Amino acid sequence: MFDNKRIVFIGPGVMAEAMIAGLIRQEVTQPPMLLAAGPRVERGEDLKSRYGIEWMTDNATAARAGDIVVLSVKPQRLDTVLESLHGIIKPDALILSIVAGASIAKISGILDHKAVIRAMPNTPAQIGEGITVWTAAPEVSEVQREMGQQILAALGQEIFMEEETYLNMATALSGTGPAYVFLFMEAMVDAGVHLGFPRRVAEQLVAQTVRGSVDYYTRDTDPLHLARLRNQVTSPGGTSAAALYYLEKAGFRTAISRAVWAAYERSRELGKDARAHWPENVSQQDDG
Ligand SMILES: NC(=O)c1ccc[n+]([C@@H]2O[C@H](COP(=O)([O-])OP(=O)(O)OC[C@H]3O[C@@H](n4cnc5c(N)ncnc54)[C@H](OP(=O)(O)O)[C@@H]3O)[C@@H](O)[C@H]2O)c1
Repeated sequence: MFDNKRIVFIGPGVMAEAMIAGLIRQEVTQPPMLLAAGPRVERGEDLKSRYGIEWMTDNATAARAGDIVVLSVKPQRLDTVLESLHGIIKPDALILSIVAGASIAKISGILDHKAVIRAMPNTPAQIGEGITVWTAAPEVSEVQREMGQQILAALGQEIFMEEETYLNMATALSGTGPAYVFLFMEAMVDAGVHLGFPRRVAEQLVAQTVRGSVDYYTRDTDPLHLARLRNQVTSPGGTSAAALYYLEKAGFRTAISRAVWAAYERSRELGKDARAHWPENVSQQDDG
């Protein structure tokens, strides 16, 4: 499917590298068919030596060569990048954007190019364990859709949604999700240290508890409801009942629900005018 198809990455950062590594690992395409463009030569040399891909600093020259052009710059850089690519994308090329908050209408409007896929991956993509929600403009052909799906599958699981409105929801739930999980784990590790465990042991206990619980939950194609799994560990008058009582009283469930909703609203807000809302030095973890 990717024979002689050039995949060009505009914005060769963490997520682009995850895609490049996944595409090569899964032999979806060959390194010479991959081309990345970005401002830092050292970054380019690094990617070139590790993956054998082509590199250049000029976005426009790179994009002109692309059959698939992946937009993987930070949201606050997107407008400038799109404006510089206006009118130079091949008419039959596919644009695949992973930029948080950027709508298909905005991308295709500035580029004047209709075949756009919008996707929201998450950081476990870096080890091929991510999950990506994606959607496609009606003008994306069946073949382009399959190509987009294969590229995103290099990051882990992928879920196609017919309506774009799910992308902001995915940003709040799975895109930002690792932040919630890591905060929860960090709090548990600290609690273990508070109890008296050496930090290394507390980290091991927490990581394997989370990993084992997830594997236990997902071992069947039709998993038990999470409340039933929780009840399995909750004996009457026992330790879990005491702990869960406290979590509910402290508003744990409401805090999670409100946090996800806040991320959703922020994602929609950022989508309206990325340049106006993004601080220049926002960290990579802030924008999932
Ligand atoms: N990280 C996540 O969890 C996550 C999850 C879902 C979606 N996303 C989306 O993925 C996109 C990339 O995120 P990331 O975490 O990979 O960010 P990143 O590591 O900062 O990558 C951005 C890359 O773009 C380069 N760049 C800066 N200005 C450019 C320009 N004018 N033209 C071309 N390249 C330019 C940067 O180069 P320098 O380093 O030299 O500045 C960097 O290599 C973001 O839009 C984000 O919303 C990220």
